[in-house]
Amino acid sequence: MTTGVLIGDEAKARAMDAADPLREHRALFNIPPASAARDPRAALTAHPGEPRAVYLTGNSLGCQPKAAREAVESELHDWAALGVEGHTHGRNPWLPYHELFRHTGARLVGARPGEVVMMNTLTVNLHLLMVSLYRPTASRFKIIIEDSAFPSDSYAVWTHAHARGVDPARAVVRLKPRREGDWTLTTDEILAAIEEHGPSTALLMLGGVNYLTGQWFDMPRITAAAKRAGCVVGWDLAHAAGNVPMDLHDWDVDFAAWCSYKYLNSGPGAVAGAYVHERHGQDAALPRFAGWWGNDPGSRFAMRPEFVPRPGADGWQCSNPPIFSLAPLKASLEIFDRVGMKALREKSLRLTAYLESLIDEINRDFAGGAAEPIQIITPRDPARRGCQLSLLYRRGSRDLLERLKTAGVICDFREPSIIRAAPVPLYTTFHDVWAFAKVLRDAVGADMTGNRP
Ligand SMILES: Cc1ncc(COP(=O)(O)O)c(C=O)c1O
Repeated sequence: MTTGVLIGDEAKARAMDAADPLREHRALFNIPPASAARDPRAALTAHPGEPRAVYLTGNSLGCQPKAAREAVESELHDWAALGVEGHTHGRNPWLPYHELFRHTGARLVGARPGEVVMMNTLTVNLHLLMVSLYRPTASRFKIIIEDSAFPSDSYAVWTHAHARGVDPARAVVRLKPRREGDWTLTTDEILAAIEEHGPSTALLMLGGVNYLTGQWFDMPRITAAAKRAGCVVGWDLAHAAGNVPMDLHDWDVDFAAWCSYKYLNSGPGAVAGAYVHERHGQDAALPRFAGWWGNDPGSRFAMRPEFVPRPGADGWQCSNPPIFSLAPLKASLEIFDRVGMKALREKSLRLTAYLESLIDEINRDFAGGAAEPIQIITPRDPARRGCQLSLLYRRGSRDLLERLKTAGVICDFREPSIIRAAPVPLYTTFHDVWAFAKVLRDAVGADMTGNRP
């Protein structure tokens, strides 16, 4: 067992930052001060010169793009100056505001213009899309989800089945890893479930990247298999949008929805995204829960009672959108669009591999013949994960989290005992990753030697 040795090489982390082609982008964000980890109330009045936190929780709430304030203030200004005229004469007129995302939103997830709309929140969008695309019949009524789906998704599918008069206990199939102790599902396990339940399944709806384990499912293979079996395929992309590159249209995904407050850095409760394949977007006969903003804009103000859906994802909008919540999304997506998912993914692969190598080093140094102290439950194959690594620390993840906070690290804890660390490529540095691993190493070292502070 080695103790007291500096992990890895700090100079190497600094050198990787210096060579990082995306290094300038960190300056576009407000990174909270280190006191936000230790004493959040003090952080509210922190001196701007205070050292910044090691912020590894962009998978929960992304950091604020500096341009977000200006974007919101610009809309507040136009409201003050123009009142209702802002709908048509604002600098970004509010009536067609959602169209600002037509191309940036589509590029983000590999869709065609018109297949993506920004509206509502994630769970609401899943419900609206399931109203249209979960079409249970007497023989085909099941919904396949992962057993470790985010609770909101479990509630959504359960209540949808119930609302359609289908017994949820019969309808909802939850995929569990076959082997005791496994955290992630293999693609083969998912394909086998599709084979088994496919003929009676109406909808397969998984999280593109699982929120707990960070596993990125093989979306094209799973989509193709489920479609061959006759199922509709939807993806919850809360942890995938802005994290991994996707080609939703070419993969023939039927629908998807995601939130914008995680990797998309658009602020708490930010307006969510929805994707509907153009095949469905052109289908005016699909059942849906309609509102006036989904109506053809040409006849929207004719105030007639008949609903004429606007073609494309726009036709699923219900209400006129919250402009002050869309403004930060506009500021944020402009950054994504400039950088592009390809460059982000390239850095992300390097950053997460670096974190993994430092944790492996801790495990090597402290294994002592027994199980490794920190288990990485996220897949080791970089193609099967985004930036997040989920860590299981058997000696107590909650306690470890407190020690991380004291050291100025912000990451999070999820039941049963998992610390999620997400080095996001837009603003996390290699040095941040090094600093996080150093705290981990000191904590593990103290636990293993009994020298707890
Ligand atoms: C995978 C996943 N699905 C759904 C949700 C619920 O999102 P919302 O509260 O925006 O509806 C979350 C929230 O974190 C999530 O991570």
